This record gives sequence, C-alpha cells and structure tokens, in this order.
Amino acid sequence: MNRKVTVVGAGNVGATTAQLIAEKGVADVVLVDILDGIPQGKSLDMTEAAPVWNTSARVFGANDYGPTEGSDVVVVTAGLARKPGMSRDDLLHANARIVRAVASEVGKRSPEAVIIVVSNPMDVMTQVVFQETGFPARRVVGMGGVLDSARFRAFVAMEAGVSARDVSALVMGGHGDSMVPLPRYTMVGGIPVTEILDKARVQELIERTRNGGAEIVGLLKSGSAYYAPAAASAEMAEAVLRDEKRVLPCAAYLEGQYGVTGVYSGVPVKLGAGGVEAILELKLSDEELKAFQASARAVQEAVSKLGESKSA
Ligand code: APR
Repeated sequence: MNRKVTVVGAGNVGATTAQLIAEKGVADVVLVDILDGIPQGKSLDMTEAAPVWNTSARVFGANDYGPTEGSDVVVVTAGLARKPGMSRDDLLHANARIVRAVASEVGKRSPEAVIIVVSNPMDVMTQVVFQETGFPARRVVGMGGVLDSARFRAFVAMEAGVSARDVSALVMGGHGDSMVPLPRYTMVGGIPVTEILDKARVQELIERTRNGGAEIVGLLKSGSAYYAPAAASAEMAEAVLRDEKRVLPCAAYLEGQYGVTGVYSGVPVKLGAGGVEAILELKLSDEELKAFQASARAVQEAVSKLGESKSA
C-alpha cells in the first residue's frame, strides 16, 4: 500500500479514525502522539487485527514525525477532550498551542497533504492550521458538518422509525452551539423531513443535534464522543484518498461565499484529491443566512482572541 495517512493524536478519536482507515484498506496509517508507548501499542494491536480485518493496510505508531513524511492526508485530533460542563471554547487556548505545534511539524514533512482538522474548537483550529502551515486553503479542511449531519440523520431516523441510511441531511455553520441545521435539505428516502415529521418535533431534533456533543459528554462523564467523530473523519479521508468528489458539509475557508470572507465555516463542499475542490453555494433564506453569518462571526472572534493572546 503506498498511500499514507497520518493521524496525530492517538486518543479515542485518533485511534478509532486510524482503525477505520486501516479496516477500509484505503491507506497505511501512521499514528503519532506525545505519550510514550500509546501510539506504538495501539498500532501494534491494529497490526495484529489486520489479518482478521482482511486488510493489507499497515499501521505504525510514533512519538516523532519522521515516519509521517510524505503523507497524502493528515488528520489532526491532538488536544484535550471536553470534560463535563466545559464548552468547546474553553478548550480554545490550550488546543491552539497544541495544534499550532502539530501543524508546523506536519506542514514541513507532508507539504502536499490534505489536512483534516478535528481538534476542538474545530472551526478555529482549522484556521490555526491554515495560518501555521501556509497551505492553500483548499488543502486544509475541518471535520464538523459530517458529524453534525450524521447526528441529525440518526435522530431523524430514530424518530421516523426508518433506516439511518435513507436519511440525508445538511448542517451548516460552526461546529458548536451556533450550527445551522437546514430541515428543508433533510430528506427521508428523498422525501423532505418536513413532510414526515411535524415542525415542533423537527425543532426538538435540531436542538438535540446542537447539543449532540454535550449529551455524550454528560453520559460518558470523562472524555467526549469518538465513534461518530472518527467515522466522519475517516469518511472525509477516504473521499480525498479515492478522489471521490463527495459532496459533504465541511469547514472550508470562505472568500466571499455566503457573504463571509477570511474565515472557516461549515458549508457543502466537493471533497476530492485536491481537498476542497469547490464550495457549493445554496440560496439560503434571510433567516438561515443571518444564522450562518452569526456563526461565522463567532469563529472570527475566537480567531482574533487567539491572535491577541499570541502577540501579547
Ligand atoms: N502532539 C500529539 N498528540 C498530542 C499532543 C501533541 N502536542 N497533545 C496532546 N496529544 C494527544 C494526547 O496525548 C491524547 O492521546 O492527543 C490525544 C487526545 O486524545 P483524547 O484525550 O482521547 O481526546 P479525543 O476524545 O480523541 O478528542 C481529541 O477531538 O473531538 C475532538 O474535542 C475533541 O479536541 C478533542 C480531539
């Protein structure tokens, strides 16, 4: 196998992402973490699972970036996870320091990679990676919309009593409290959800989606969600590696689209070998556009906060 994916952070999200990529057999995986033995141990465990997974993919673990050289895709999950009662923004400063250091290392060693950013607050960390690497914006993309849409799809499927496979959904905006789920683009087997569930119920499912991450943190008590975040990250990595031209909601750098400039926010994009190959512009209602722009503004403010603390 000659395609290579580096996953930085061998915690819950990173290791599960590595597992899914290896199981799919789309690339070899290098798992990097600062903790001595953790990436090595987890990658050896996956290596021993490979015969049963029936995959030729190889998995390596390291505490340094040497083995990551020439990666096609880098998934950044390094950082601290949310604890109960902690907002994604509480993580802002601590994770920015970590993500900046990671971006500088991977940028040097894999200058042609597409970088998928998962660490929270995700939209802001994506911008940090973009700034730190100096990569073209299309090769730095954030994982949020695929996860938020998956949560919304799961809740709609549970409510309607249908297979989650038949539910498609679009959630735009920031990956956080300001996300913008769009029920009119949410379909159950091609039928708008608004024709299947009543408006009040759809609104409740939207609220549950908005709090999807916090609901899991509350249940787990220590640590945050990882199966769905990893599934979403692996789906994005696969879209890039196989040049699938998937249409997925991802955090992309906006340059005038939706009236927003110079900031990452969740929009439908075409994801392929080149990274974000196009940003799809929908006609949003005034209300939706306002909500979207407010969520982009929140990211912009967090980015500025970081800029100030960096220069202080
Ligand atoms: N370089 C590499 N790895 C690092 C660094 C660093 N500088 N700093 C921390 N890590 C590693 C930790 O050692 C840990 O193994 O990142 C890993 C994070 O794993 P978990 O604590 O299990 O967190 P996880 O649930 O995987 O979430 C990771 O994704 O969804 C987001 O909010 C979540 O920001 C968090 C990230």
